[in-house]
Amino acid sequence: MSQQVAPGREALFRPLEIRSLHLANRLAMSPMTRMGCPDGLPDEVNREYYASRAAGGTGLVVTEGIGIDHPTSVDHAWIPRLDSPASVAAWREVTGAVHSAGGKIVAQLWHVGPLWGANARFDKPNRDRLMELRPMRPSGLWGTPGVTTYSERSVARWIPEIEPMTEAEITETIEAYARSAALAMEAGFDGVTLHGGHGYLLDAFVWADTNRRTDAWGGDLAARVRYPAAVVAAVREAIGPDAPLFYRFSQHTQQDYKARKAETPDELGVYLGALADAGVDLFDASTRRFSDAAFPELEGDDGEVTLAGWARRLTGKASGAVGGVGIGTSLREQKSGAEISASDNVDLVTELMDRGEFDLISVGRLHLADPGIAGVLRSAGPLPEFIREQHEAPLRDPQA
Ligand SMILES: Cc1cc2nc3c(=O)[nH]c(=O)nc-3n(C[C@H](O)[C@H](O)[C@H](O)COP(=O)(O)O)c2cc1C
Repeated sequence: MSQQVAPGREALFRPLEIRSLHLANRLAMSPMTRMGCPDGLPDEVNREYYASRAAGGTGLVVTEGIGIDHPTSVDHAWIPRLDSPASVAAWREVTGAVHSAGGKIVAQLWHVGPLWGANARFDKPNRDRLMELRPMRPSGLWGTPGVTTYSERSVARWIPEIEPMTEAEITETIEAYARSAALAMEAGFDGVTLHGGHGYLLDAFVWADTNRRTDAWGGDLAARVRYPAAVVAAVREAIGPDAPLFYRFSQHTQQDYKARKAETPDELGVYLGALADAGVDLFDASTRRFSDAAFPELEGDDGEVTLAGWARRLTGKASGAVGGVGIGTSLREQKSGAEISASDNVDLVTELMDRGEFDLISVGRLHLADPGIAGVLRSAGPLPEFIREQHEAPLRDPQA
């Protein structure tokens, strides 16, 4: 892009290198499930959707969550998957289009784990068939008994305690992550990112409320991290030493927005340290607001460090932040029906980047509002307004 970078925005438009990945700038499109891939395969609509963001100048496109090669990875027929030669061929078209537009793209690999069923309610033709399958839950638990941020009525179908994952299922799912990661590389992705947050399968092993196992996969935090670390190691093996491996993590879960996996930086170090040792290159800290302090109860400067800042400090790896860039209303508040306000906080992004808090900033909703958001940020132009009805609209006509 020849366009000048506005004064003060330089940090955002500096290149970034992670293993074989060379990014032109530090702006990423955050992963966003759109339920718009017919029969789980992206086509020209999805191709254009992703390529237009790359053409707009966004350095890194992160795909929506893509189901791994396992029967209960994703619970909606129009959520994409990477589990077959057809899916590799379809994704190859997308990666090719993004590359032709001058961008880079990584695949977010996803297994919904305990949350199986949350998307199935939107898939009318397949809902009953999907709901017959048993979700993968480390201890058979959906979340903290009696606690939910969903409405009681909507979770009634999914919440019952079921049989925990068996040892064979643990092995199968680890292998499924690795197979889909290999397929991602075959499809031309520049790397992969694992969805390790929000209460899904990887996170459900880390969260004490969904992992009460008494075997080697459960116990204290170090033991609960063994499953995600095994997945990271298997994925690293599958993608080889050159490709970058990102890992999205969060304190909160969909089941309980107040959940915390790490109560202290030391605990966070145990958690992320194990994943760094297993092969993660960049920790994508998922928060509602990118600038929020992770442990505000700490004294002095430590009380101001963000979750992404702690990930970087504790592991020595790169980190990414996300949440509320250009938007004052968090996604959670938006889902509760709150009015959506703008927030002129882009200078704070560059300030925190300059201060060494994080290396990459992901932007979700404003990438829906404007495919050319990178240009707006670069020129310090007026931020687009996020209009709920327009920008929350499905990517295409939803299933009948
Ligand atoms: C429509 C929509 C779908 C999302 N789907 C995913 C997803 O598949 N995987 C994921 O890790 N996060 C998902 N998220 C969360 C976003 O990646 C991002 O973290 C969140 O929207 C906060 O960023 P923002 O304030 O810039 O939108 C989704 C968000 C939205 C709005």
